[in-house]
Amino acid sequence: MTDGATAIPEVQALLRVLAAGRDVAEMGAAYGETAAIMAETARSVVTVERDPERVALARERLAGSKNVELLEGDVWEQLRGRGPFGLVFVDGGLRPVTDERWEAILALVERGGLLVKDDMSPGRPIDGDEIREFLLRAPRLAATEVVVAPGMAVILAALIG
Ligand SMILES: C[S@@+](CC[C@H](N)C(=O)[O-])C[C@H]1O[C@@H](n2cnc3c(N)ncnc32)[C@H](O)[C@@H]1O
Repeated sequence: MTDGATAIPEVQALLRVLAAGRDVAEMGAAYGETAAIMAETARSVVTVERDPERVALARERLAGSKNVELLEGDVWEQLRGRGPFGLVFVDGGLRPVTDERWEAILALVERGGLLVKDDMSPGRPIDGDEIREFLLRAPRLAATEVVVAPGMAVILAALIG
């Protein structure tokens, strides 16, 4: 399935590499497509989706992925206290963006672990972009924008402090 709710193939390919050997958390499973791809290389994947119809489809899609745990509900409730993870894919539930939410996300990431924020428009200024302002300026993160396809970038960050 490749509607707008699923990461584009270039992002999926990047995540498949970054997930290798790691415990992964995905915020927003949608139909389970990207979770299935990350599960090919990850040690484990925990993915959360709040839409019951999507959860049902994701459950079917992920039935063969034995290292995936699909949780139904709100990502902030379901992931609280979990981890730490070597890779957190931030792909649902972030807005409205708050400092508390960023702290909750960073609490999920192990030291040296990675965070990926999808769906960024390439080349935008940092100032005035609440996602770039946090990820590209937080002293605890080393982060960069990676253009993965025409018109599509991700922010890739590592927790360093
Ligand atoms: C862009 S889609 C995820 C796509 C998926 N990561 C993929 O690439 O296959 C975002 C999903 O996040 C879900 N979502 C949004 N807010 C959420 C929340 N607070 N808790 C759980 N899921 C949420 C939406 O229902 C939607 O299916």
